[in-house]
Amino acid sequence: MLKPFLDGKKLFIEKNLDSFLNELSYPTQIAEGMKYAVLNGGKRIRPILLFMILDLFNKDEKFGVPSAAALEMIHSYSLVHDDLPALDNDDYRRGKLTTHKKFGEAEGILIGDALLTHAFYILTEKNLPLLSPEKIVEIIRITSSYAGINGMIGGQMIDIESENKKIDMETLKYIHKNKTGKLLRLPIEIGCVISEVSKEIREKLEKYADLIGLAFQIKDDILDIEGDFETLGKPIGSDAELNKATYPSLIGLDESKKLLEDIVNEAKEIIKENFSEEKGKLLIELTDYIAFRKK
Ligand code: IPE
Ligand code: IPE
Ligand code: MG
Ligand code: MG
Ligand code: MG
Repeated sequence: MLKPFLDGKKLFIEKNLDSFLNELSYPTQIAEGMKYAVLNGGKRIRPILLFMILDLFNKDEKFGVPSAAALEMIHSYSLVHDDLPALDNDDYRRGKLTTHKKFGEAEGILIGDALLTHAFYILTEKNLPLLSPEKIVEIIRITSSYAGINGMIGGQMIDIESENKKIDMETLKYIHKNKTGKLLRLPIEIGCVISEVSKEIREKLEKYADLIGLAFQIKDDILDIEGDFETLGKPIGSDAELNKATYPSLIGLDESKKLLEDIVNEAKEIIKENFSEEKGKLLIELTDYIAFRKK
């Protein structure tokens, strides 16, 4: 059953994030801002994906804790910067004032920088007692690649530069697969590194990860039109206001929903083909959750 897994792992990673972040106290505004930006009710989907992969290969969840926490810090930093006036200029996130609205713009920039940097401290310091140096280096290698120009930042840059422009489908796909997809692919790959998964199975899971990464952002685009602020915790219509390149703006709302369903079915097929019904059950349910979520 998906719900108990989601609720359980969400609580588990929040407890660990709380403990890691409570080790920080000075400068006070940065420490407070980091806690505000992270411990504020996100869905924790990236940590959950990592724990789901560990569960799939019968690995103890404790081996994923530092990486899951680091991932959520990097993701939260990406949101803090995404909301800045120079980027999407949004005032609400996860149902509360955005970090820069609460702490100031310069502080928001530094809080984001601190979260990104601290994530790499956590990846080394907290992983050292748990994983081999080879595994830690591999985790840092893929994390630094996917969080930067080869992933999230690369996608965000083209997203920003595509405002008020008509772009083609290939460019839009690049944006979504990178600004959002790579940070969703990362926990799946990290889970494979920790669990020492074969190259063959890892490649299948990477293909699955790319599909759900794209699906996740198409759904985010749809929710920016059809969602409601109360449930979503962030403003509706933000994309239209900035004339963003999104799936609904390029192919329309109905086509976007159809495409989302196709992508989700393709992703589920990969799991069905490679894992037993019992083993793959949670990932299949999670795939549907990604496409049909309300927040
Ligand atoms: C929002 O991510 C930004 C995107 C990459 C689409 P989430 O929808 O995972 O946001 P939280 O963490 O649950 O707030
Ligand atoms: C953001 O995409 C992806 C990130 C890297 C943060 P959006 O700009 O659509 O995310 P929301 O809608 O503000 O959460
Ligand atoms: Mg954005
Ligand atoms: Mg945004
Ligand atoms: Mg959005």
